[in-house]
Amino acid sequence: MLHDMLRPRILLSFFAAIVILAGAGALLAQNADRPWMNPKLSPEERAELVLKQLTLDEKLALLHGNGMAHNPSWEMPLTHLANGGAGYVEGVERLGIPPLVMSDAAYGVRSSGANGRYSTALPSNLAAASSWDTQAACAYGELIGSELRAQGFDMTLGGGTNLTRDPRNGRTFEYAGEDPLLAGTMVGNRIKCEQAQHVVGDIKHYAVNDQETGRFFVNAIISRRAMQESDLLAFHIAIAIANPGAVMCSYNRINGDYGCENSYTLRDVLKKDWGFKGFVVSDWGGTHSTEKASAAGLDQEQPMDAFFGPKLKQAVEAGRVPLAEIDDHARRVLYAEFLSGLVDDPPQTSVVDAEKGLKVARQVEEKSIVLLKNSHAVLPIDPARVHSIALIGGHADVGMISGGGSAQVDPPGGNAILPPGKGATQWQEHIWFPTSPLKALRAKLPKTKIDFDSGTDLDAAAKLAGGADLAIVFVYQWESEGMDLPGLSLPDQQDALIERVAAANPNTIVVLETGTAVTMPWLDKVAGVVEAWYAGSAGHKALANVLVGKVNPSGKLAMTFPKSEADLPRPVIAALPAQAEGNGRGPVNAGTLATSYAVHYDEGPEVGYKWYEAQHKQPLFAFGYGLSYTSYAYSDLSVDAAAKTVRFTVKNTGERAGTETAEVYARLPQGADESFKRLAGWAQVALAPGESKTVTVAIDPRVLQVFDEASERWKLVPGDYGVFVGASSDNTPLTGSLTVQ
Ligand code: BGC
Repeated sequence: MLHDMLRPRILLSFFAAIVILAGAGALLAQNADRPWMNPKLSPEERAELVLKQLTLDEKLALLHGNGMAHNPSWEMPLTHLANGGAGYVEGVERLGIPPLVMSDAAYGVRSSGANGRYSTALPSNLAAASSWDTQAACAYGELIGSELRAQGFDMTLGGGTNLTRDPRNGRTFEYAGEDPLLAGTMVGNRIKCEQAQHVVGDIKHYAVNDQETGRFFVNAIISRRAMQESDLLAFHIAIAIANPGAVMCSYNRINGDYGCENSYTLRDVLKKDWGFKGFVVSDWGGTHSTEKASAAGLDQEQPMDAFFGPKLKQAVEAGRVPLAEIDDHARRVLYAEFLSGLVDDPPQTSVVDAEKGLKVARQVEEKSIVLLKNSHAVLPIDPARVHSIALIGGHADVGMISGGGSAQVDPPGGNAILPPGKGATQWQEHIWFPTSPLKALRAKLPKTKIDFDSGTDLDAAAKLAGGADLAIVFVYQWESEGMDLPGLSLPDQQDALIERVAAANPNTIVVLETGTAVTMPWLDKVAGVVEAWYAGSAGHKALANVLVGKVNPSGKLAMTFPKSEADLPRPVIAALPAQAEGNGRGPVNAGTLATSYAVHYDEGPEVGYKWYEAQHKQPLFAFGYGLSYTSYAYSDLSVDAAAKTVRFTVKNTGERAGTETAEVYARLPQGADESFKRLAGWAQVALAPGESKTVTVAIDPRVLQVFDEASERWKLVPGDYGVFVGASSDNTPLTGSLTVQ
């Protein structure tokens, strides 16, 4: 009986096995014709095997884009295949090589709204860098990678690594701060984990693209040594960690040559010195020549084929561009496809896991929020003492602001401060996410009376604040690609709002939603300041958790907050010459560019805290600064010069559990003529109240070296290096030295 019942199943299994075997056989037969499909071969070997099969036209097709979706001036015949994204590069279907379908994805997958899709907005990149947490960076990349794939994309355009030389740069929120080790490490870990989702990883905008004013033509003038020890070092560290398939060259010129035809940065440094094997993709409209760009190391023009289409073919046929150069470009694109796993596992569209996204976005923001001031422990909010709260300004009843430009992620339901159903968001529109701090706080503090005032009428705001136990003022500063900020003051008379509220209530807390530093003329008059950055899709919940003490803040500034613009290396960003083209986005007409416009980075490697230290200027808040609801003490430094490690003890001297980021800095020996410290490493130490831990931090050797321009080599300066350990760049209670023979 049992036997009879089993018979059909056995037969079924038998047929299934035959089908599977036949399938595997067919695959084997197919793969016998396609040896590059063998995943056991290295990406290099696989790329080489494919390259041998390609016709010239197939190679050339890998080297340019085919238009940009939703951009009429960059429309091409194949634009419709771009999946609503920024770029599309044909694959080689007959050989199983998928096309590249690219989307911007700085803090989430871009402009999903225009395509009817949903994406998670993570906190800004600057926020995430302020977590100093490489696992958070990894979770950040993993999430974006998975959402890109779910939406049918296989290449990311994220990974902004430019250093914050000028805090007014409109893209500061897209970057990871002012220090090469921190920025490189955070971006590197993010892109490593993003690419692990089988999307081609990208790191941008290479290089010295440190202001948006005149971005299509500005000539960044900087010595090779300074560039190597600052901006390029950040990229090198990020690229070494992430091993990205692509690097995007920048719009600007670097010492005369455009970023996308600069043989020093592309060919000599990136490809030769660093051994980068992926491809260089131009920023959108950032290609200016055919032969020069190709020889300098540009591999792929985006988003069109103005220079790397028919013109490149003609140049090859006329012998002006050697075939070997074309092979090198094509090999690199193929390598990136194999390296990222995209060939073996092309994207499968599916529904984005919104729940997971919100969880990751909240967790990252909880680690990124920086507590800047907390007089008489005004925070966390204690509901036993605080019975009423006046919530004021910043549209805090409906949402929180986000960063604009090609980074923009669209909020579900549209801009939270506009009536619903307004449609897709527009370029240069200030976009609020529907993440209401008012609702989130009410949920956390059900017994506390929380009232909201928009802050537009200062008298009304002061009146509400005066009658409450606590006032929280929400202020914002909007930033975007294609513009720089006129200054670091809060816009829209928000300074005046804070002054009035603080005058009405000594228990005033300011919550900042900013993409960069702001000046704080009211700092002495308020009790607390919390930097929430552009907080992402779950920013309100993370913020509420910090305000009520469910989460103990641990973020530390990834950039200096100066006292005023007068303290910056360039107090004013040089104005554009009158003949310059619009500074926004669009196809670049090289003929009308202002070629004379330059920015002189005379401060060289003294970026951010290094500048303030060298210039003896006290910032408002130093790089690496951030408070906690507990306190920490540092002791017992020992330095192992041979191993280049430092050991020290951190103790939680307060009453709450917390995580301290302990920072290690090094100063070059006397003779090196350098009057600032360099971040050399850090450790994150989770401590229960009263607990101590001894940690060992390896000093990253790259930050101990200097770049010798004459020999074009890195060198260690012999002598005694100063070692400094503590809670921020301007608070290093432990000092020691490390001798290099
Ligand atoms: C931006 C890039 C972006 C590209 C595609 C450019 O204008 O500078 O960061 O990836 O456009 O949207």
